[in-house]
Amino acid sequence: MTATLREKIQQAALFIKEQGIQTLEFGLILGSGLGELADEIENPIIISYGDIPHFPVSTVTGHAGQLVYGKLSGKYVLAMQGRFHYYEGYSLQEVTFPIRVMKELGVHSLIVTNAAGGINTQFTQGELMMITDQINYTGANPLMGPNDESLGVRFTDMSEPYDKAYQETAREVAAKMALDLKEGVYIGFSGPTYETPAEIKMARLLGADAVGMSTVPEVIVAKHAGLRVLGVSCITNLAAGMQASLNHEEVVETTERVKVTFKLFIKNILAAL
Ligand code: HPA
Repeated sequence: MTATLREKIQQAALFIKEQGIQTLEFGLILGSGLGELADEIENPIIISYGDIPHFPVSTVTGHAGQLVYGKLSGKYVLAMQGRFHYYEGYSLQEVTFPIRVMKELGVHSLIVTNAAGGINTQFTQGELMMITDQINYTGANPLMGPNDESLGVRFTDMSEPYDKAYQETAREVAAKMALDLKEGVYIGFSGPTYETPAEIKMARLLGADAVGMSTVPEVIVAKHAGLRVLGVSCITNLAAGMQASLNHEEVVETTERVKVTFKLFIKNILAAL
């Protein structure tokens, strides 16, 4: 008998708990080049994805592929150092499995971060954008297929994907740091190609401010699971057609340059939530 999704979640959560994890408040997903925040977690318990039953294994460079548990800014967090992407060949159910496990372990909120291309012409490379809404442009949805009512409802309300009160807190934190925090809509493509200039023009017409290859499925599942969500993008480059060409090295270079501010911002938000 193959295990049901619910059984897989429970088995993964049990394994993680057995590593010494008790209280949990916040789940943290650290995107491309942003994983160093997990190194600041106090008295960390580190668990490799490969050791966790039913967990996929991350393949992208710049993604460590481990969970880090402990206290950060006085809050109990479980951080994903590296995430799973649709373009790696995982199903969206697999991509979002860790969110299910986080919920089972007791997190009430999720902070998602990513590297993204700037579509909004007001944005410059290296800025941080708080995600206020999202467009699912992956062509799929992680909730497709049979719905387990114990995990969430069949038709999930996406009226407020990103928590309004958390956004207000993040604005206040940014103001105190004199950080020019941008805000906008994140559009998620499947990747792994970067977009074409025509696709970016389209995305802008659709109301998108930043583009990436992650986050959207995770936030859908977080909402299904009843979690509150805060999202922050690091604008690592201008989107296709707005600069000469795109490459992953530039993305990593920008996150490297911004990481000190980024880490402080997330820590200050955590302290204030
Ligand atoms: N497009 C898609 N994903 C990205 C980009 C981009 O321009 N930059 C960083 N991740």
